[in-house]
Amino acid sequence: MNAITKGISPFYPGQPVPVELFVGRQKEIDKIARAVKQVELGKPQAIFLTGEYGIGKSSLAGFMRFYAEKENHLLGIHVLLGGAATIEDVAVKTVEAVLKTQAYEPTLMDKVRNILAKYIGKQELFGVQINFEALKADGINISQGYLPFFHQLLDRLKDDGIKGMMLILDEINGITGNPKFAHFIKGLVDENALSANPLPLMLMLCGVEDRRREMIQHHQPVERIFDIVEINPMSGSEMKDFFNKAFQSQNILINEEAMKQLCHYSAGFPKIMHIVGDATFWIDHDGTIDKDDAFKGILLAAEDIGRKFVDQQVLKALRSKDYHSIMEKISKSPFDLSFQKTDLEKGLSDSERKKFNNFLQRMKKLKVLRSGDIHGEYVFNSRLVRLYIFLNAIKKDIPK
Ligand SMILES: Nc1ncnc2c1ncn2[C@@H]1O[C@H](COP(=O)(O)OP(=O)(O)O)[C@@H](O)[C@H]1O
Ligand SMILES: [Mg+2]
Repeated sequence: MNAITKGISPFYPGQPVPVELFVGRQKEIDKIARAVKQVELGKPQAIFLTGEYGIGKSSLAGFMRFYAEKENHLLGIHVLLGGAATIEDVAVKTVEAVLKTQAYEPTLMDKVRNILAKYIGKQELFGVQINFEALKADGINISQGYLPFFHQLLDRLKDDGIKGMMLILDEINGITGNPKFAHFIKGLVDENALSANPLPLMLMLCGVEDRRREMIQHHQPVERIFDIVEINPMSGSEMKDFFNKAFQSQNILINEEAMKQLCHYSAGFPKIMHIVGDATFWIDHDGTIDKDDAFKGILLAAEDIGRKFVDQQVLKALRSKDYHSIMEKISKSPFDLSFQKTDLEKGLSDSERKKFNNFLQRMKKLKVLRSGDIHGEYVFNSRLVRLYIFLNAIKKDIPK
């Protein structure tokens, strides 16, 4: 049989999903869409988009940026703050994002670049460099506040029908540790609300709940400025919808049994859906994903996640010998995703038992386990991680 030639994989592990393959999230979309409409009408809004790592914050933010531009005529800027440590860094990354934005309306961005031409330093092959001296000479000291800068920008885009801005501050992990950031954000929101001529601004921060808490710790009033939109794991029908859309885009069929397996192991996590889907996509050779392809894909994905996450981060963090043997015993126990602490304790040696509590706490910290609903119950966060450690444990027992 001839292997069919593969097109582009419709899966994007580690990247925000393209708008065409975005699925689900209707409730969250509706909520944000309402706020965006308010901004279009002139009322500033602030949203904190929260949910755990890999759940789809950046993707939903990107999708809403597209939506806000198309439906509500807001200029959307998505700023990735990874690596930013000071407010100056935030300012630099913001102006860079404005200049480098790929708008869905290219002529609009040409205009933005023209407006900001004097702030562009020498043109580089792969993008633009910013001339901060010129920015400062104009009295737009952006690190003292965004508002004058954005007002100037929007005034010049009014004729193009632009009604306001959507500013997404994403990857805030590093910057929230700086107390000035919380003050900066609160200042931005307050100053805008009190101004005679408020900027129609949709401010959206994306981050895990711990980061929001951290900001509140630095500056209590931050608690009141945001509407919170929380993203949860996807439902079965959302996952199904995703796999169907993705495979169909490459004219690949998927049968019911395979679909069941892919959804089961993805367990609602978009990040895992893409990893599992991608592995399966490359394994298939006849244009139909069957149960066999799905299982092979799932095993490959488990290996991949295992090597990157379990081996590199989890096993290395568990240095003691007892921790490793506890891990092995857990791995081989015949439970699905959740276990009762007291049940496992029975199979442990005395010295393992002494360390069991610490072990469980560390696994929770590493995000491998979480507490279940019942007292003393622990649950694996990822089915693939569970599968990986199980496979690893039984591999050792197979004679070579
Ligand atoms: N609604 C969605 N539909 C399809 N894929 C999604 C969706 N949301 C997220 N993904 C995918 O899941 C993975 C994690 O998403 P991302 O937006 O980066 O999460 P976060 O920002 O919360 O860490 C990415 O591979 C992304 O392409
Ligand atoms: Mg993200």
